[in-house]
Amino acid sequence: MFEVAQRLLAEAGQPEVLRFWPQLSDAERRALVVSLEQQEPAELRAHCEAAVRPRPAGQAPLPGLMEPLPEDVVGGVCRTDAETLRRWRDRGFQEIAKGHVAVLLLAGGQGTRLDVPYPKGMYDVGLPSGKTLYQVQAERIRKVKQLAEKRLGGKCTLPWYIMTSEFTLEPTRNFFAQHQYFSLPQSDVVMFEQRMLPAVGFDGKIILEGKGRIAMAPDGNGGLYRALTDYKILKDMDQRGVRFVHVYCVDNILVKMADPTFIGFCVERDADCGAKVVGKAYPTEPVGVVCRVNGTYQVVEYSEVSQETVERRNADSQLTFNAGNICNHFFTVEFLKSVTEEYEPKLKLHVARKKIPYVDEEGNYVKPEKPNGIKMEKFVFDVFQFSKNFAVFEVLREDEFSPLKNAESTGGKDMPSTARRALLWQHYRWAVQAGAHFLDDKNNRVPVLSQLQETEDPPVVCEISPLISYEGEGLEERMKDREFQSPLLLMD
Ligand code: UD1
Repeated sequence: MFEVAQRLLAEAGQPEVLRFWPQLSDAERRALVVSLEQQEPAELRAHCEAAVRPRPAGQAPLPGLMEPLPEDVVGGVCRTDAETLRRWRDRGFQEIAKGHVAVLLLAGGQGTRLDVPYPKGMYDVGLPSGKTLYQVQAERIRKVKQLAEKRLGGKCTLPWYIMTSEFTLEPTRNFFAQHQYFSLPQSDVVMFEQRMLPAVGFDGKIILEGKGRIAMAPDGNGGLYRALTDYKILKDMDQRGVRFVHVYCVDNILVKMADPTFIGFCVERDADCGAKVVGKAYPTEPVGVVCRVNGTYQVVEYSEVSQETVERRNADSQLTFNAGNICNHFFTVEFLKSVTEEYEPKLKLHVARKKIPYVDEEGNYVKPEKPNGIKMEKFVFDVFQFSKNFAVFEVLREDEFSPLKNAESTGGKDMPSTARRALLWQHYRWAVQAGAHFLDDKNNRVPVLSQLQETEDPPVVCEISPLISYEGEGLEERMKDREFQSPLLLMD
């Protein structure tokens, strides 16, 4: 066992990883060797060298090279007439009904900012129904599929691919099993796992988080493309007849699963790759901006852009880089094939300096106070540069974007309370639009209000199950001219 580990690490230039070998139990030794065998020594060497290669400060693209999106690639709900929007939606529903569409969830992140010991999708933001993010998403899939079937007759499948990581696979799998896959056919929920990469110290040496354990982190949401190959997911898609994939991130409580309008828009434009965006809420909002760099489409991540660039405004005082990435992407399966077969090795490695717990030379566990090492990640949107026909779809924040990133204790933004409020405001708006009236405890009608501030609660509590309405449709028959007491929980 020792010889195997020694040989692998010598080839990788990392013999120090075995420095505590004599102190390890048999089980620890076995586990270490198993984790080492998953790495290619040459790749491991290249990874550690790349982590510490000197880079220009801040990694920001040269400001002069960043350009806003040209108007002709952008479509959107506010800039399009109702007839065209209907046409896109119809087209999307047709594709869903034909079984051409799949959704793919990126759920391998560690959710460090939210600080819970389980995957983010299992989080309950405190809705009256107590539903978790996973349940809300599952029910939206069931509903959009049902709407497609009703419109076009016959049954269809809408597979849900879920990319997990070593941190999230087991609990996610158990959670879905415990909840009977939220009544989705189990064969239509496909979980697969992204790879992990070792964290590297500033001296280029692999960091040990235990005497026999390498500090590993998922390889970023751009690890998707290797994972698609590892688990033969594109083959599975081919076998099912899937042609278009809606990829999204786990934490947006308003996410429209397999959004027919977005899909119809991209398909009509013959796009191979597309991104949904919202106008930024404030210049320093932690969202990437979709733009062009040196003539190719890219997302420049919030952590990699200069203050001056995020603050830049046009003559009309609009932010120059205002297309906020909400991590909702459209890909054709053909495009994903070209990425996995050809472009994946060219994807940039983004370097993050992090505080990584480690064992010191004496074997003591240390939680560092300042960054002591490097994690490297690929980003899902870095494939935009390879698109032959890229499309951007702008949507309304209040309808489609409220991410859960931070713990409530931060008292800041993008927390459980802001996500809960965003959903309850949306459902309140839907109810009012459908002609509902709400009564207070003295049976007086509650005046209709609009949300003015993010911290403000809706005047009444109204939650509508995704199984009843996907995007506000079909509520008149249940709500028009009727009076309801708050809290209202409209469940199927
Ligand atoms: C992400 C986007 C950012 C966007 C923002 C909107 C990326 C790289 N950045 O930022 O441009 O404005 O969302 O909310 O997409 N994940 C994995 N594996 C990993 C790491 C992450 O599957 O190794 C998943 C997470 O589970 C999550 C998604 O990717 O579903 C986004 O990851 P997160 O770290 O939350 O990205 P942000 O920094 O918030």
